[in-house]
Order: sequence, then C-alpha cells, then structure tokens
Amino acid sequence: MRFKLTELALEDIEADVAMGFVYETENGHIPGDKFWDSITDGLATEMAARGEFRGKFQSNAVIHRPQRMRSGRLVLVGAGPAGKAQTARWSDCVGSAWRQLRTAGAGSVAVLAPYGVDPDKAVRAVVEGIALAEYEPDVHKSSGRETSSLQEVTISATGATQRALDHAVATATAQNRARELANEPGNLLTPTVLAARAAELASAAGLECEVLDKAQLESLGMGALLGVARGSVEAPVMIVVRYRPDAEVQPETAHLGLVGKAVTFDTGGISIKPSKDMHLMKHDMAGGAAMLGAMLAIAALRPSIPVTAVIPSVENMPGGAAQRPGDIVKSRSGTTVEVLNTDAEGRLILADALTYAKELGCTHLVDAATLTGAIVVALGTDFTGLFSNDAGWRDRVVEASKEAGERMWPMPVGGEFSQLLKSPVADLANIGPRWGGACTAAAFLGHFAGDTPWVHLDIAGTAWYEAKLPHAPVGASGVAVATLARLAMSLG
Ligand code: BES
Ligand code: MN
Ligand code: ZN
Repeated sequence: MRFKLTELALEDIEADVAMGFVYETENGHIPGDKFWDSITDGLATEMAARGEFRGKFQSNAVIHRPQRMRSGRLVLVGAGPAGKAQTARWSDCVGSAWRQLRTAGAGSVAVLAPYGVDPDKAVRAVVEGIALAEYEPDVHKSSGRETSSLQEVTISATGATQRALDHAVATATAQNRARELANEPGNLLTPTVLAARAAELASAAGLECEVLDKAQLESLGMGALLGVARGSVEAPVMIVVRYRPDAEVQPETAHLGLVGKAVTFDTGGISIKPSKDMHLMKHDMAGGAAMLGAMLAIAALRPSIPVTAVIPSVENMPGGAAQRPGDIVKSRSGTTVEVLNTDAEGRLILADALTYAKELGCTHLVDAATLTGAIVVALGTDFTGLFSNDAGWRDRVVEASKEAGERMWPMPVGGEFSQLLKSPVADLANIGPRWGGACTAAAFLGHFAGDTPWVHLDIAGTAWYEAKLPHAPVGASGVAVATLARLAMSLG
C-alpha cells in the first residue's frame, strides 16, 4: 500500500473512494457545511435533515457517483463536534470508516486532510487512521480471510510535508508489526521464536540484534529472570536490539533504553491463574512487542541519539522444576528477592533487564509491561499507567504521548510503596499487600532503575482490545509504539 500527498482539491482527484470529515453542529441537526453541500448538490444537508447522517463521531455516510467529483464514491466521515476534535480522534474517525470500506472493493482512496490545524498533524492522523484500520489478525485462518483491496491512498493537504507522511507511515507500520507479534498465541510464539522474529525484523530494518541465551543469562547472574523461566520447557532469552545514529554520538548525548516485558504466556506459574480468560495471557509479551515496534519506527525516523531495546522473554509455566512461592532468587544487581507469588513474574524479569540496560550505557529508561491487573482496576482500558522517578523525564514522556494521541496517566511511585515490599528473609518481596498493586509493582521496578531517569508504562489495560471497536478488531492494540517513536525523535 502506498501513501502520497497532493495539493489537488479532493473533487479533482480520481479515486475509487474519496473521503472527507464532516463536523457535527452544536444542535446536532445539520452539518451545515457549504463545501459538502456544493459537492453533493445539497445531499449533505438533505441527509442531515432526515437524520441519516449528522456528522456524529465515528458515523459515516456513503454517497455513490457524487456529481461534482472525479471519484466514484464519496464517504463523509463523522468527526463529532467541531473544536473538540483532536488529532487522535480524527485517526479513529478515518479508521472506523475504513474498517467498513477495506473489503468493499476500493483500490484507491483520496482523503481530504482536516484543515484549520497543523497540516502535518492532519496528515499523520489520516495515515494512522487508514494504516491501523488495515490491520486484521487473521493470518491463521485458512479460508474466509477478508483481504483488503487497498493499493493507494492520496491525501489532499496544503502545506504538509513529505517527511510527516513518511514518519506516519513508518510509525503505523511498526505499530502493526507489534500487534502481529502480540496477537500470536503462546504455542507459536515462544521466547526462542520471538528472538528469531526480532532478529529478522531488526536485520530488515538495518538494526543490530543480539540474543542472549540461557547459558549467557546464567553467567550474567540473572537469577530473577531465570527463576521465572524454570517452570517451562521453553528456554529464556534476552533480546537486545540496537539503533546507532548516523552522526557521531557525543558523551553528553542521551542514550534511550527501551525495556519491554515479553512473557510469551503467563499461566501464573505455581501461583496459577484461574482458567477464565487465561488465554488472553498470550499477549503478556505486548511490552516487548511494543519495544520492537518502536525500534522499527526509530530505524526509519533516524533520530540523532542511540536507542537500545532490552527485551527479556520467558514463558511462565508451573512445570516440575518451577520456582515455588517462598523461593529466594538473586538478581543481576545483587538484590535478593523473596518470590511470594510466582504470578508476579513480570517485575522479576524486568528487574534483570533494567539492570542490564543500565550496564549497556542507557541513560534514560522507559519500560512497558502488561504488569498488573490492578492498573486496569485503577485506570480502565483507555489510559496507560505512567510511573517515574524523575519529574523532568516523566514530563517528556507525557508530552510525547500527547503528541502521539495515546492516553497515559501519571501514577504515584516511591518510598511509601517501597516500604510495602519488605521481606523478612530477603532484600525485597516480589509482592506487596492487596491495595495499590500497580504502585507496589512499579516501586519494585524502581528499585532496579535506581537513580537513572526512568518511566514505567503499565499497559495491562491498554495493550488489548477485548471487544471490537469501530476502528479496530479484537486483539492487540500496539499501544506505546507511537509514543516511543515520538519520544526518541524529541530527544534528538
Ligand atoms: N500479566 C499479568 C498482569 C495482567 C493482568 C496483564 C491482566 C494483562 C491483563 C501479571 O503477570 C500478573 O499476573 N500480575 C498479578 C500480580 C499479583 C500476583 C501481585 C496481578 O495483577 O494479579
Ligand atoms: Mn503474572
Ligand atoms: Zn504477566
């Protein structure tokens, strides 16, 4: 699929489908947009009058053979009330229209970018809307696949740059790669398979990839990670992906470290989970997938800072050799941990990964993990929980998330919560009391981040769409890829 920019007016582009936004007016009755009325010979107002289409958010109307256009179909995309519209919402609007059109025989699409805003932002919204809506998790279906007919998207925008378009395409494509990985089931995507996929993706993108195997993890003393892996026949790995900028790196240049939890399946281990919804724990590697996706975007955007992704990957199973509640493990940092609950495994593998990322020279850390059910209770499924030990670093990540249109909410982490992780027999316990579970989990990670500026993203509520959305199918969302790509670009 190809995206291109044009300064031609929408009505002068010849495409199978032309698309444009219609705002809902305050009284919700008539879009009252003279432009659409002139193009449709008053049909826009007519449809609004009979309540057929009033520009409601994520609704749309298809007009066949619009008289004053060179395209065969015109799709009016409801954008909701004007003014309240945000970039992120536009991409959801285009996306929901495109989810209905992708299998409706349109090979070429022309889209009029929203106007009255930064044209680059408008273009980004359109690209992301369509590219993300193209994704369908049906690779394992042997028949009945609904393949998209899309070949070419032409975006009509005045003053937008090719660079913005290229960046948006790279980011959305990378986000879809992350979704592909996170949607894979546990039998098909083991730590070993994930490492092979990472190596393939990295080499195609011109990134370096190194995979540490079990023996190497043992000699590095990564006891926290290895303890989790014990219950599975699948060998653990630590995947390291490196991006080096073209220009020489100055000593004071930031080195971004992206640490992603990649538990390819989380049964809970000996502290086994209830069977209801356990199958969803196939996406417990969404944090790792997000970091790989971010690296692919970064490889295309080419920021001027080095970025290293560190992705610890294990399967958490209750095998005969599995670690037991009460076991004490020693992390690479030297900190000993009493494993009171084997289902709090993400923080154990991340502990060693954070330590390792610092050893590799990362000066600024972000981790992403489907870490706690507690964050879903706290924030629901639209907001990612964001924890940090450094206000300045936190603000930069929050800023990047706003730019990317991903909702993230600052949560507390610190001394009070660390106090709750005391163990009578080891340096730390891997769980705290029942309340504030997302915050104690973050505090556990904070212990290993130490003084290095660090942000932890708990994506347990945002990494997976449990129900179909107008713009997305059930399954992995690819959350955090867009934020991290923007973050890397904002650093240099
Ligand atoms: N992978 C889970 C967290 C999770 C829950 C992710 C729901 C996505 C959706 C994590 O490893 C886990 O099991 N956390 C436990 C921690 C508890 C034992 C302290 C939890 O949240 O119940
Ligand atoms: Mn778990
Ligand atoms: Zn888990």
